[in-house]
Amino acid sequence: MKGIVLAGGTGSRLFPLTKITNKHLLPIYDKPMVYYPIQTLVDAGITDIMLVTGGRNSGDFLRLLGNGKEFGLKHLNYTYQEGEGGIAEALALAEHFADGQPICVILGDNLIEGNIRESVEQFRKQGRGARIFLKEVHDAQRFGVAELAGDRIVGIEEKPAHPKSNYAVTGIYLYDATVFDKCRVLKPSHRGELEITDVNNAYVREGSMSFSVLDGWWTDAGTFDSLLRAANLVARKRTSSAATD
Ligand code: G1P
Repeated sequence: MKGIVLAGGTGSRLFPLTKITNKHLLPIYDKPMVYYPIQTLVDAGITDIMLVTGGRNSGDFLRLLGNGKEFGLKHLNYTYQEGEGGIAEALALAEHFADGQPICVILGDNLIEGNIRESVEQFRKQGRGARIFLKEVHDAQRFGVAELAGDRIVGIEEKPAHPKSNYAVTGIYLYDATVFDKCRVLKPSHRGELEITDVNNAYVREGSMSFSVLDGWWTDAGTFDSLLRAANLVARKRTSSAATD
């Protein structure tokens, strides 16, 4: 399985913090944001990784990460997203890298406490389709939200005013190789972007979407409040693991 970290975008919700740098290079406690999703992949045993970035600061990622030595990697792959076409457009750029293999996609501003290794294993056994990670939240209208019927996802709505559940769709996705065909037929949403939620709904319609509920905390870090929350969660995790050392 290959890993893809999406770290493009302008980070406009974090202006002026992102006026002179990329959102994913901002600090979360003691590390740049992008370190966390890379570590999530590595912890799940995924070491063949591509980073999709964009904007004026893309060269900084190469200077910061190099070939991924800090993560125990021998090599890191990079590609560049022109403009602001959305998450699914960024993902489509990784088709050549994926080369027909299943992929684990993670948004560069998503941090988790736990490990996704087991779910990655389950997806390997599943063999086709997609698997996404849900997390119960109290502010579901900020996210993609899953509508559930028993143990099935019957639909996903992007930032609904009236969420049909409290289960947010987190920014970690497992896809088979058909994901790129699904990206190709997407139409831009009202915010002018190719939405990952539309990709996920294509799998839901096909009946090949499964899900795991994440253990431990999960947060994005794309707003002032969530950026602060992410830093506090990481700091607490570090202090508690130092206390048990
Ligand atoms: C994106 C997705 C959304 C998902 C969220 C997770 O939202 O569109 O479905 O719940 O990431 O972080 P964005 O942060 O781009 O608004």
